[in-house]
Amino acid sequence: MKAIILAGGSGSRLYPLTQVSSKQLQAVFDKPMIYYPLTVLIASGVREFCLISTPDDVPRYKKLLGNGQQWGISVEYREQAKPEGIAQAFLIAADFIGLDSVTLMLGDNIFSGGDDFPRAVSNFDGGATIFAYHVKDPQRYGVVEFDRNGKAVSIEEKPRQPKSSYAVPGVYIYDNDVVEIARAVKPSARGELEITDVNLEYLRRGKLQVRRLSRGFAWLDAGTSTALHEASAYIEAIERRQGVKIGCPEEAALVRGFLSVDQFEALIEKMPSCEYSDYLRSVADEWRRLKWEKQ
Ligand code: G1P
Repeated sequence: MKAIILAGGSGSRLYPLTQVSSKQLQAVFDKPMIYYPLTVLIASGVREFCLISTPDDVPRYKKLLGNGQQWGISVEYREQAKPEGIAQAFLIAADFIGLDSVTLMLGDNIFSGGDDFPRAVSNFDGGATIFAYHVKDPQRYGVVEFDRNGKAVSIEEKPRQPKSSYAVPGVYIYDNDVVEIARAVKPSARGELEITDVNLEYLRRGKLQVRRLSRGFAWLDAGTSTALHEASAYIEAIERRQGVKIGCPEEAALVRGFLSVDQFEALIEKMPSCEYSDYLRSVADEWRRLKWEKQ
């Protein structure tokens, strides 16, 4: 399984924050936004990444994430010259995908809680798997309608009159057919290759699985200044209460076995003294202690 993180767009709804830096590089509490989707994917066992952003912003992501080696992953980069839709990612990254299946995640979607994604990735056996999450304002999203047996029967992109309260979050798992399907998608009225059209094609082929995310799961949006602030406040509250961090790629790489504890500690040595490195040090100490206790 490979993964694409799409971090394009102008972020105009976060103006003036986005005048000099991409939306997905903004801080969500104590980390850049992009760390959150990246961590979810690392925790799901994905090691090969392609990050797509604007020509202006790709160099900034390269500075932040490098080639991924430090976390035991690989990161390639591609440019999306104009925001021409989420499904365009599969055309831009077709050579990266090759013959593999691929997870696409939007760089501004923040998830916390549950093991729904790791399980969906490891149980994936073809077709498409997408998710559904109950929200108050479904008209802002792709909306799934279910029949009485809980089977998905329709998906509409930002409908004025939503047929359900279930929105489709920005994480999608596809088999290799997605490249061919995306090539056949025509631009919508807003001039974009819509991800909803890709999902509709899988639905038409009888190959779409829609998994409902549980109530305890948090899907946060960081698209407006208010939503960004709320997402930061949420992450801070959970981190403070639990003493564990959300969206920490180093930690996810250690837990997944992409990094040994020695490599993990070597990473910390290169960091400045700060809350983040203090936290990672406590993770390393606990890791060594638990290992030792188990022996
Ligand atoms: C996009 C998709 C939409 C999905 C949403 C999730 O919306 O088109 O189906 O529900 O991401 O964040 P957009 O980013 O275009 O508002």
